[in-house]
Amino acid sequence: MNVDITFLPSGRSASVRAGTTVLDAARKAGVPIRTRCDGKAACLMCKVTTASGQGLSPLSDNERRKLAGLEGQGTRLACQTKVTGKAVVEVPEDPLRAAVRRQLMRQAEEDELW
Ligand code: FES
Repeated sequence: MNVDITFLPSGRSASVRAGTTVLDAARKAGVPIRTRCDGKAACLMCKVTTASGQGLSPLSDNERRKLAGLEGQGTRLACQTKVTGKAVVEVPEDPLRAAVRRQLMRQAEEDELW
């Protein structure tokens, strides 16, 4: 059975087999999610958030331990979370890209002063 998952803020989506990890679904949708351990729950770089948790597998003990309290804010590890139904997850902006964007905004504000 295939299920749909949508990634925010891009709005890209993918139809994947139920049980596919969010990380693999993101790859199929062409949505970049940072990872160093390639899905072994070691790097903790693949965090995504979900408002409702609907359409996603329940937290495993390993994921809960790795998240150390962040799960209460809707944070999940994309490599450990499986898509079980229609789901929507938000992928945070890459920290390097966010830093560059903030710097460019600051520079534009300074340019306006001149
Ligand atoms: S990919 Fe490394 S913890 Fe998920």
